[in-house]
Amino acid sequence: MKYSALKGVHDIYPPDILTWQKVEKAAKDIFTVYGFQELRAPIIESTDIFIRSIGETTDIVEKEMYSFSDKAGRHITLRPEGTAPVVRCYVENHLYNLPAPQKFFYSGPMFRYERPQAGRFRQFFQIGAEAFGVGEPKIDAEILSMLKLFFERLGLKGLNFEVNSIGCEQCRPGYRKALLNFFSDRLEGFCPDCKRRNEQNPLRILDCKVDACIKLRDGAPHVTDYLCGECREHFTAFQSFLIMLNIPHVVNPNMVRGLDYYTRTTFEVTCEHLGAQNAVAAGGRYDRLVEDFGGPPTPAIGFAIGMERITSLVRSSGTDSIPAPFVFIATIGESAGKEGLIIANRLREEGIWAELGYTGNSLKSQLRRADRLSADYVLIIGDDEINSGRLKWKRLSDGTQGEIPSSDVYSFFK
Ligand code: HAM
Repeated sequence: MKYSALKGVHDIYPPDILTWQKVEKAAKDIFTVYGFQELRAPIIESTDIFIRSIGETTDIVEKEMYSFSDKAGRHITLRPEGTAPVVRCYVENHLYNLPAPQKFFYSGPMFRYERPQAGRFRQFFQIGAEAFGVGEPKIDAEILSMLKLFFERLGLKGLNFEVNSIGCEQCRPGYRKALLNFFSDRLEGFCPDCKRRNEQNPLRILDCKVDACIKLRDGAPHVTDYLCGECREHFTAFQSFLIMLNIPHVVNPNMVRGLDYYTRTTFEVTCEHLGAQNAVAAGGRYDRLVEDFGGPPTPAIGFAIGMERITSLVRSSGTDSIPAPFVFIATIGESAGKEGLIIANRLREEGIWAELGYTGNSLKSQLRRADRLSADYVLIIGDDEINSGRLKWKRLSDGTQGEIPSSDVYSFFK
């Protein structure tokens, strides 16, 4: 019997895991100096939470959720994204009673039943951040500057910041009308989903991935032409802060996010090296969601970074050095084997990475392993060394070697 991982999911193991850890560390370091603290929400939530926030007519809710009933018949979903669970946690735990803004970051697996392809998985990982309680466009710009610094810390170049504003409930009716008008004489050619969306939420047609629909919506009205005064002001101020903070960006009026909860600012960070799935991070404002979840009116904004996509960019941007043991202890014979075990343990207690050779292997094969591991030093112990109380060491980088009394071995390597 042979087992393999499910389609669209993947294992992460050394050396790739090193890139993952590097990305996670950079995120934690940078997000912390912007005042974000970690929040851990469950991976399973009530299905309603996602239907309510992401929207019934979105691809995620219509086609991609991993939903099931538990033994008590509750409707449960493996989270397809992290914002709704964070909002649920924020409201349920009355975190809005704390001084605003409350800023959180999170990381972990998300699940969407999508067609797997390069950069698109069914279980994928995100690092996300959400800030609650500030409606000013200043924080929108701060969020983008945090992302920019994060990418810079990882040495990534060639990323594009695309921004848009999709307005608020005031601007929506006018835009909806314009879209309905535009689509009215093309409806025949749309896919069945879009025909339905046209009735329920025509904005979603702009996010359809079917080729025919993409062609038919060419020339559709831009939401930015339908913004109300306040949304327009917000968008203008946001862009002026971006310029002030030296964040090059382009306005992409065609950018509609795949989730319904957004209001005003939306953004995506894209990179052409990623191919078709070119968004490495994305997010926006969702000023209504806390209220929709039963909390007080609370503006909010956040984003999520796709870990598979960013780690692939980091890997292709340079080689990371692979960590190596400091000392490799090669032993010949049983008593040397025991001595080696004791020395290795002591070195580890001192915080020194020590690897042991196993006496079942010849000295030659032990040394070959030390070399393959790129150990800094090899320590050789045999009967002669035990009898004389002097151990042989060799530095692999330049071949320098010598002897030390066994009692000095800890101070020597320290
Ligand atoms: P999203 O655009 O659906 O937004 O996902 C954010 C990022 O997750 C994408 O830009 C991409 O890098 C990655 N991603 C999404 N789906 C997949 C997939 N199937 N395989 C690999 N990577 C993927 C959200 O999830 C929002 N919750 C972001 C947000 C936070 N908005 C406000 N706060």
